[in-house]
Amino acid sequence: MTPMADADDALIARFDAPASALDSIARDLTRQMARGLVGEPSSLKMLQTFTRQPSGRERGRVVVVDWGGTKARAGLVELGGDGAVRMVAEEALTFSEADKRGAPEPVFDLIARAVGRVARAQGVAVAPLAFIYSYPARLERIDRAVALGSTKGWALKGLEGQDVAGLLAAALRRAGLERIRVAAVANDTVATLMLQSYRARGRDAGARPADVGLILGTGTNLAADLGPAGIRNLESGNFDGVAAVEIPYDAALDREVDEPPPGAQRFEKMVSGHYLGEILRRALLDLGPPWRGSSALATPFALDSAHLSRIAADRTAGLDDVDALLRGLGAASTAAERRGVRALGAAIARRAARLVGTALVGTLRFLDGELADRRTIAVDGSLWGGYPGFEALARESLVDLVGGERAARIVTAYVKDSTSAGAAVIAAVAATQRSE
Ligand code: GLC
Repeated sequence: MTPMADADDALIARFDAPASALDSIARDLTRQMARGLVGEPSSLKMLQTFTRQPSGRERGRVVVVDWGGTKARAGLVELGGDGAVRMVAEEALTFSEADKRGAPEPVFDLIARAVGRVARAQGVAVAPLAFIYSYPARLERIDRAVALGSTKGWALKGLEGQDVAGLLAAALRRAGLERIRVAAVANDTVATLMLQSYRARGRDAGARPADVGLILGTGTNLAADLGPAGIRNLESGNFDGVAAVEIPYDAALDREVDEPPPGAQRFEKMVSGHYLGEILRRALLDLGPPWRGSSALATPFALDSAHLSRIAADRTAGLDDVDALLRGLGAASTAAERRGVRALGAAIARRAARLVGTALVGTLRFLDGELADRRTIAVDGSLWGGYPGFEALARESLVDLVGGERAARIVTAYVKDSTSAGAAVIAAVAATQRSE
């Protein structure tokens, strides 16, 4: 073996996440859930959601807003009442880096204007609106959500402490849309969970609803149905019990990224799409030439998880697509170097997937310490859906932690593009709750 390959192997081995370490992480997560629920110090906020599982018979037309990353969407969704959902119209918006650091109102105005275009095109003047706000927020009612610190690179000035549903309602008024009423606000994890439950129960009224909603995209987070405590948004991206597998790259990334601040979103910084490419970039620079010569690779966040997925998907002997990708970033490479990049990317993604499996086990053990019952995890997000074999990697850690028999009772359902459709379900459930 060449010295280069040895260096690669040693670097790659640092991303191992052995079962014993994961087990202690899962147990810590279960404990922190319990503490968060009773208001004791915990990195898990266990936020209330003010919604409940759908019956599957919800129907009607709902205007939806999905804001949770670099993009936002405004749309119109129709629920058929038998688990069916139709996206009638949708428009996507992209935000600039400047938008992310300015005042909140211009962002809400952009969203409200998109709502206006969708509503006018569909001839909708009066309608309930469901707002998926996929950042930490403390709900006080189904239609009132006080923003907590931002995540995923956003840092709007003065947003913290404000009611985001109220801000959207004000922007809708400014856009002349006062008859489109913000009826519900929720997190994306809750939307995923609710959509899966709606579909399952719409087909079969006796079907068990989803137990957990998981997002694995730009960010990561979990919602779980805790029975008497209701459906909770864990904000699990902020889970801090990661020391057992943390390596210096993680500590440096945490220290050097200013939004979210050091110490916040520790789990998310090791697991989600916003950060995996950045971990790879940092590790590559340590491998030395040819990566250090690339000015693109010297730029923070030059690699993202779509790059990671692309690297993993290249099945050619010479890794031709990896070559093209790296050339695009100004780095020429040999086939052996590209194999090193690919193995490193795979190790980073594998660790992320194993940590996701670990968080699921920690959450499910809170529901049922023995994992005796069948459980459904509704999952959405670009990393879960886009990284080749991510689910299989996550399942490996389930088996490592709870054994094959129990792991087989943990069912994952991939609910693609669930946010807007799930939002409509939440608004429809809110309407039933109000009429009771
Ligand atoms: C971040 C947000 C959280 C969201 C997740 C997935 O962790 O804080 O609210 O659910 O990203 O989009």
